[in-house]
Amino acid sequence: MPEFTHQGHEKKEFVRKMFDDISPSYDFLNHFLSLGIDIYWRKRFIQKLEIKDDYSILDVACGTGDVGFEILTNHSVSITGIDLSPKMVKLAHEKAQKKNMENITFIEGDAENLPLDNNSVDCLTISYGFRNISNYESALTEFYRVLKPGGKLGILEFSKPKSKIIGIIFKLYFHHILPRIASFFSRSDAYRYLPESVDFFPSRHDICRKIIYSGFQRAEIHDLTFGISTIFLGFKDGK
Ligand SMILES: C[S@@+](CC[C@H](N)C(=O)[O-])C[C@H]1O[C@@H](n2cnc3c(N)ncnc32)[C@H](O)[C@@H]1O
Repeated sequence: MPEFTHQGHEKKEFVRKMFDDISPSYDFLNHFLSLGIDIYWRKRFIQKLEIKDDYSILDVACGTGDVGFEILTNHSVSITGIDLSPKMVKLAHEKAQKKNMENITFIEGDAENLPLDNNSVDCLTISYGFRNISNYESALTEFYRVLKPGGKLGILEFSKPKSKIIGIIFKLYFHHILPRIASFFSRSDAYRYLPESVDFFPSRHDICRKIIYSGFQRAEIHDLTFGISTIFLGFKDGK
């Protein structure tokens, strides 16, 4: 039986409060529980986006800002990070100051109601945030709206591994080991929500269909590490 059945506004409030509560240990647990592989996944994600200098980038569900910081280490672009959780935004802002990174700003906001003009960004990224959104379709419609013609959408998200054996090992770790370790450091239900939200996430092909139905002309799927994580790309036509 699923434990986290929140939907719509209730899901949004649950998610906002949960990420506020886990924000102090978020970075540490991310790297510790994934044995650092999350850093590699974000790097591969950014490579796939083929970012060009002078791009304006919107990083939705930016969390503590790691996607934006990684992009800025190799590219001369301007980035806005947006997140529902005020505490994650505050941490991202403090990290940017410590790193002396100037071309990045962080604001509080909702993926389903972006405070940006139509056709205003070259690239929109969302890493491990899409699964947490209440209404996937309305977020994708917003992503399409704010992207310039010729713009790119990149979604990085957990998936169900394609190999049966890896799937069993992953499930054991994700459902039984990870929540127990995380409960020593953080709000324990957050790390029971994580595997459940992956279990109930639509299939790769359903996500691609949603991308296309939202207006994107083309969508691609790229699996990482046995399909534990997946990169989805969406392309908005240039004309
Ligand atoms: C697992 S974290 C991912 C953070 C970061 N992108 C990363 O790669 O580490 C998910 C983030 O999504 C944010 N989030 C969830 N729903 C959102 C929404 N509707 N709009 C904006 N941010 C949202 C949460 O507040 C949280 O910071």
